[in-house]
Amino acid sequence: MAFSRTALVSYLLILIAFFSPTSSSSSRAEIQPSDSEKVSLGLYYESLCPYSANFIVNYLVDIFQNDLISIVDLSLVPWGNARIRPNNTFTCQHGPYECLLNTVEACAIDEWPELNVHFPFIYCIESFVHEHKHTEWEKCFEKLDLDPKSITNCYTGERGKKLELQYAAETEALQPPHQYVPWVVVDGQPLYEDYENFLSYICKAYKGVAVPKACREQSLNTIRTRKSKPRRPVCYMEEKSALSARIRSAIASWMQKMNMGALL
Ligand SMILES: *[C@@H]1O[C@H](CO)[C@@H](O)[C@H](O)[C@H]1NC(C)=O
Repeated sequence: MAFSRTALVSYLLILIAFFSPTSSSSSRAEIQPSDSEKVSLGLYYESLCPYSANFIVNYLVDIFQNDLISIVDLSLVPWGNARIRPNNTFTCQHGPYECLLNTVEACAIDEWPELNVHFPFIYCIESFVHEHKHTEWEKCFEKLDLDPKSITNCYTGERGKKLELQYAAETEALQPPHQYVPWVVVDGQPLYEDYENFLSYICKAYKGVAVPKACREQSLNTIRTRKSKPRRPVCYMEEKSALSARIRSAIASWMQKMNMGALL
């Protein structure tokens, strides 16, 4: 199977080893920042945006592979560019399946508040999205030996909807407002298209004494300026309506020309 199961399993083993109470990695033992010293990292995303999936699977996971998670207060907000209809139901940018998976991920965060449980699950779903196999997401229960019952009850019922409406409100409250996803916010500041460099922003924002090894290594690398970098791929808000507006204006100008042609 093309899905790199081995890669996933090895990531997850690292995660589990990292969080396991019996693990006593020396580099981790050194770093015990208080909660107030932790740097907030917010990821506002939607489950089927390929760039959100890429960020989670190929970038965000890095905080678990080095010792950065010890200084990070991570918050995942699976809503993105979805919209609430007047009757309190919602529509998602990539269709109903995206609403379903956003809700599943919201339910996982609520049902399993520990990052070491819900992150591997979300990582697993987003790996399937990344491989264009999102309909196989339910395999994640088995892969991670998690009971699907509570999640199923949540996303098929009122609780899932309530959680999503909370994430909608949280996304709406962003200042400045998000323009696209993935929208990465470090210490209250959006990173815009520089989001793939989130590690260096975390290290810069961290004021604690116990500097993680990953940040000591970061400071050796010069941080590239935003200007010199290529545009990051993102899922813009209002993609469809912007497109239809462009089509409408093209048709309008074409009709104008036609009318003028008729007048001549
Ligand atoms: C909510 O409104 C949409 C159209 O705006 C409609 O398609 C949908 O069936 C409605 N849902 C409920 C539960 O009323």
